[in-house]
Amino acid sequence: MIGAQWGDEGKGKIVDLLTDRVSAVVRFQGGHNAGHTLVINGAKTVLHLVPSGILRAGVQCLLGNGVVVSPPALFAELDKLEGSAIDIAGRLMVSPACPLVLPSHVALDRAREARRGDHAIGTTCRGIGPAYEDKVGRRAVRVADLEDERALSERVRELLDLHNFMLERYYGEQPIDAARTLDELSVAGRRLLPMMGDVAEALRVARAAGHNVLFEGAQGSLLDIDHGTYPFVTSSNTMAAAAALGAGVGPGYIDSVLGVAKAYTTRVGGGPFPTELTDALGERLRSVGYEFGATTGRPRRCGWLDVVVLRRALLASSVNALCLTKLDVLDGLDTLRIAVAYRWRGKRLDYPPATAEALAGCEPVYEDLPGWQGATAGATRIEDLPAGARRYLERIETLLGVPIVIVSTGAERGHTIILSDTFV
Ligand code: IMP
Repeated sequence: MIGAQWGDEGKGKIVDLLTDRVSAVVRFQGGHNAGHTLVINGAKTVLHLVPSGILRAGVQCLLGNGVVVSPPALFAELDKLEGSAIDIAGRLMVSPACPLVLPSHVALDRAREARRGDHAIGTTCRGIGPAYEDKVGRRAVRVADLEDERALSERVRELLDLHNFMLERYYGEQPIDAARTLDELSVAGRRLLPMMGDVAEALRVARAAGHNVLFEGAQGSLLDIDHGTYPFVTSSNTMAAAAALGAGVGPGYIDSVLGVAKAYTTRVGGGPFPTELTDALGERLRSVGYEFGATTGRPRRCGWLDVVVLRRALLASSVNALCLTKLDVLDGLDTLRIAVAYRWRGKRLDYPPATAEALAGCEPVYEDLPGWQGATAGATRIEDLPAGARRYLERIETLLGVPIVIVSTGAERGHTIILSDTFV
């Protein structure tokens, strides 16, 4: 399951919903920059790093090698879950190859964003970008390194030498104390190492037993480091193919790809957003949809549904089924607009262009549809939707050529219309 827009599509709810059919949920990229909100019987839980399967008893939760792990963020989340009487013992497995997010990564992320000024990416300032840079730079400290204190000490000191050089000399910031980082890591190791395990092997076993497994994407397709609106992206691949690489299995493991999209579009942070509404209507979507970041609390930018962006997501992830969320937020609007193409320098584009500059210059080509006056909120059957809402869904299916299999009509687990089985 992947987000088909710029993140915040409501993936947490959908994962939670589907977990009654799976034995394991796997995160394969990103870190605690994600914010997955789940509402069950009125109680809200926000997860950042722990897979959204944790709220379903007995479901195994796996963090694949593609995830960057901040031990304090993980522990804070686990403590909170335990505080809500959720049994997590033995249910979480972390790959030994997960790179760790260190305090110096956070400091670098913040310093860079501050330096960029008006051109800031608008990151979550969780250290995610710098942590992935160190992974690719072959100098990351990984979960398995916590096993060997001596080697760990060497790695951390070497890495902090580099980080502190950048922090002090380039950014004019305070250095991060290496000894303190090491102490924190050795304490973290005691709690983290017992969770370490071979994620790929666990997945093989689940499959051999005939169980379903759900790969939980974080962020969204247009935040993908290669295929997104670069440089206003996150630092991992968010497309479906990353599920295989980021969990240690081959692409043949994946049978089906569910793309999750909101019935409109939102974006947090900087970067071009062709269908953005900066008027009262955008404000209405924000307040009705409660569009505030689950991780940072930042107000999300809101706009019309953008099929151009979705086309890219569907193509790059081989999406074969769609889930449309937050349909209820559009209740009561007179007219709805869908961007079906862009106009750029006199040309019609069906896909977003490669550069942020070009995307910023794109004018959406809109198709207008009549809205609906009745409520879709809380609906559980397609027959109960107003005719306008059904027409909206049908039009999206036609434009994208992919069936909508799930429609979400509210935050609660039960506020959902299931149109066909997601598992093949
Ligand atoms: P980073 O992932 O913290 O480096 O942030 C890079 C970009 O991705 C920024 O625009 C963030 O707002 C965005 N971003 C990161 N995680 C999420 C998420 O879970 N939902 C929505 N946007 C996100």
